[in-house]
Amino acid sequence: MKLLDNLLKSSNIKKNDDVSSGFSYPESTHSNLSSNNDSKLSIQSLNAWFGNKLALKNINIDFKENYVTALIGPSGCGKTTLLRCINRMHEMTPNASAKGNIILDGLNIYDKSSDPVIIKRRMGMVFQKPNPFPTMSIFDNVASGLRLNGIKDKFLIKNIVQESLEGAGLWDEVKNDLDKPGMGLSGGQQQRLCIARALAMQPEILLMDEPTSALDPIASSKIEELVSDLKKNLTVIIVTHNMQQAARVSDYTAFMYLGELVEFGKTAQIFKNPVKELTERYISGKFG
Ligand SMILES: Nc1ncnc2c1ncn2[C@@H]1O[C@H](COP(=O)(O)OP(=O)(O)OP(=O)(O)O)[C@@H](O)[C@H]1O
Ligand SMILES: [Mg+2]
Repeated sequence: MKLLDNLLKSSNIKKNDDVSSGFSYPESTHSNLSSNNDSKLSIQSLNAWFGNKLALKNINIDFKENYVTALIGPSGCGKTTLLRCINRMHEMTPNASAKGNIILDGLNIYDKSSDPVIIKRRMGMVFQKPNPFPTMSIFDNVASGLRLNGIKDKFLIKNIVQESLEGAGLWDEVKNDLDKPGMGLSGGQQQRLCIARALAMQPEILLMDEPTSALDPIASSKIEELVSDLKKNLTVIIVTHNMQQAARVSDYTAFMYLGELVEFGKTAQIFKNPVKELTERYISGKFG
């Protein structure tokens, strides 16, 4: 981990000022805001807009290190937008803006001195539909981020590719086919390949946006097992529409509705004894 960090620091990563153009930075940004308690990531008074439309309304939430937090809520409530604010993708949408503080290890990621490229590296993202790079082999899919970041050491790349595929629970299935196309894998394997691709950058936070919704039950359960393993080394935020999945994989659950965070707490509490009636109605399938 240290070795990769040092290599990345000395490689040709440049501050990407263009990425942040059009984004309204919070007015009172300080580089060293303290986060609450022992959270890895703290969202404070976050509002996000698409044009004039307010998509996230005053979100306050802390994500604890080495725990899994599930984001649940009906379609359109803002789950993806929240993930995209966290990894600085929201600002790349035309006319999108946001205001508030997102504190990663005490540093505001929207501080002008925070480099979006570094922030993205610290946060891996896995999408709903597996999206391996279509023209690349299995090996190159996993190695691509390292190479893009200027890593040239073949031995190091090979080690990290193996480690990442092992971490994603895919190594044994693909170790003899590393030069075959990533697209030749099954849907579940492709999703684990995408997880390996994210892990290769050694992120501290893994953002997963409905990672199993396109998969069959067996492939889904493999990803769920993986999530439980991954939290030993990183912090996971997973969006899911599957209440059983949220209950199985997460330690904490956040229920969102119409852009607001309605209730947040330990998963067992949210599912067994929700405080808000709206939460109870959603998790018991009365709407959504
Ligand atoms: N690119 C966009 N331009 C304009 N509005 C958008 C855009 N993306 C999302 N929205 C709006 O922002 C709100 C939140 O959307 P978001 O995609 O975050 O919801 P979600 O909870 O992830 O929904 P789903 O469960 O369907 O994925 C919705 O009202 C949506 O219509
Ligand atoms: Mg979504």
